[in-house]
Amino acid sequence: LARGVPEPDLAGRHVVISAGGTREPLDPVRYLGNRSSGKQGYALARTAAARGARVTLVEASTGMTDPAGVDVVHVGTAVQLREAVLKAAADADAVVMAAAVADFRPLSYASGKIKKKDGEEPAPVALVRNPDILAEVAADRARPGQVVVGFAAETDDVLANGRDKLRRKGCDLLVVNEVGERKTFGAEENEAVVLAADGGETPVPYGPKEALADTVWDLVAHRLPAPPR
Ligand code: CTP
Ligand code: CA
Repeated sequence: LARGVPEPDLAGRHVVISAGGTREPLDPVRYLGNRSSGKQGYALARTAAARGARVTLVEASTGMTDPAGVDVVHVGTAVQLREAVLKAAADADAVVMAAAVADFRPLSYASGKIKKKDGEEPAPVALVRNPDILAEVAADRARPGQVVVGFAAETDDVLANGRDKLRRKGCDLLVVNEVGERKTFGAEENEAVVLAADGGETPVPYGPKEALADTVWDLVAHRLPAPPR
């Protein structure tokens, strides 16, 4: 894809991006996790930096190299991700939640490795809800005009589910992916529809995650209030 030097339309802006998937430990050697690769979040970080933004990337277990010119905060659990995102969001112009946040975490953490015992059935794992970080950021905007963006992977009635979720979360934009066939976790390419709280609907054709990232930044840039002068 031949792209020239991008317009620095995000210069002077601070954007916060979460990427990857949280891991919720059961004991020192085991966790509940998910298959988010972090590639979309990293594409968002690279493209925002290329457009002149100061970027804070809150990374959860991607194993990827820190992108150049980006402040990276490494986290493990949803609770840690929440702390890092809320802290960075305090002076952010935009927050994009591309991370797959575990909905539940084990109720308790065993400080020693959980052992099996002969002739005994395993104990069920009790779970508790994790905080909803996107909903919290959207409800308590740290700055007037802060733009808040979520991601959702949906099946069945993808657009109706997306509209519902956008409303529930209270964010400005929701990037909705349809799960299935070529849309596998870890893929280099993506297809999506970006739903806006104002009713807007922007389809993004199947293509590189950078192209989707640039569309997200176009929509964010359009919504940012004029910078103070
Ligand atoms: N998200 C979040 N905190 C959570 C769960 C999700 O901030 N505890 C964010 C994700 O980063 C994503 C958006 O919310 O940007 C949508 O995630 P999704 O899992 O689709 O939403 P849920 O409300 O958890 O709905 P579902 O029951 O479909 O998983
Ligand atoms: Ca979820």
